[in-house]
Amino acid sequence: MKIINIVGARPNFMKMAPIIEAMNQHPSTIQHLLVHTGQHYDEKMSQAFFDDLGMPKPDIDLEVGSGSHAEQTARIMIAFEKVCLQEKPDLVIVVGDVNSTMACTITAKKLGIKVAHVEAGLRSRDMAIPEEINRLCTDVLCDVLFTTDKGAGENLLAEGIDANKIVFAGNVMIDTLKKHQDLAARLSLIDQLELKPQGYALLTLHRPSNVDEPAVFKGIAQALHQLGERLPIIFPIHPRTRKMAEQFGLMDILQAKDSSSGIHLLEPLGYLQFLHLMMNARMVLTDSGGLQEETTALGVPCITLRENTERPITCEEGSNVIVGNKKENIIAAAETILSGQPKAATVPEKWDGKAAQRIVDWLVE
Ligand code: UD1
Repeated sequence: MKIINIVGARPNFMKMAPIIEAMNQHPSTIQHLLVHTGQHYDEKMSQAFFDDLGMPKPDIDLEVGSGSHAEQTARIMIAFEKVCLQEKPDLVIVVGDVNSTMACTITAKKLGIKVAHVEAGLRSRDMAIPEEINRLCTDVLCDVLFTTDKGAGENLLAEGIDANKIVFAGNVMIDTLKKHQDLAARLSLIDQLELKPQGYALLTLHRPSNVDEPAVFKGIAQALHQLGERLPIIFPIHPRTRKMAEQFGLMDILQAKDSSSGIHLLEPLGYLQFLHLMMNARMVLTDSGGLQEETTALGVPCITLRENTERPITCEEGSNVIVGNKKENIIAAAETILSGQPKAATVPEKWDGKAAQRIVDWLVE
């Protein structure tokens, strides 16, 4: 069986790493190639993850880079079609919900190649989010849909997808988290930053809905500035967010005034350093999808600065709350955690470090 595994953007790498590792246990059955679309290309957004996760160098790099959604998607499709024609894989595996996920799915299906989607069935029901469009297009085309929770399977069934295509495998991102937890715990980054365990908040922000509108981004920045007076906020800033903050003149609000409080901007971090900061944080504030799941697995309180989530299980069972992007709601949620009353949380079924194994066992059978 010849398989092409696809990665493109930062949140793909930690999902694909355990799948490759599990495939390597079956050298006589599975021949696999790794294709990187090049959607993310900065050292800190891409190579740092390959190093931290011990991932093999991509066999093929499509080097598509940034662009509008249509440009980026089209460039991936044109380049990946050539790869498919040359390599003639039996199966393409895509993960997550980024533009690379959708572009490679459409390309392979039109050539009659089977596609499997890992992390299928997540739905926010919000078509203003580009990833929701990517998820819908990907899932409707895929031949095998590996899901992270039962709710995702129910979403797919409700859309008329054949139950035989759906495999509840669990969460591959949590495989990677569990594998690296001990290593991350031994890092000294919080000492270097002069922070105490549970003595700071960790922040990420990059959704267009939060950072592309000056008034919205300003409101969030003001809320964070106010919260920064209560505890330090560590903010490894995504390149697009930095660009927008500079453009809107928000860097002053976002910069720390002294070392004991305020917002501390960092460059994007590698996987291990970020995990180290996440596991020691009092709370995480984010608009990322993946962090909602990782904080749930770690039991760290998470405040999600969005109006909805495609990962409701992180709220129903995990440590996540959805607060939107209004200043008073962000502050109120943080105050609840600071007052020592975070919500009770459990880890969802099959977020146990064995999801990739289940996926590969299924493929081999
Ligand atoms: C992409 C994913 C998003 C994911 C995020 C994680 C889509 C639609 N979005 O969003 O789901 O949560 O990755 O980071 O696929 N840039 C750099 N260096 C890079 C990559 C991007 O500077 O290596 C800058 C460029 O200005 C670029 C912008 O970030 O235009 C946006 O990059 P893009 O890949 O389009 O989307 P992300 O916002 O990173």
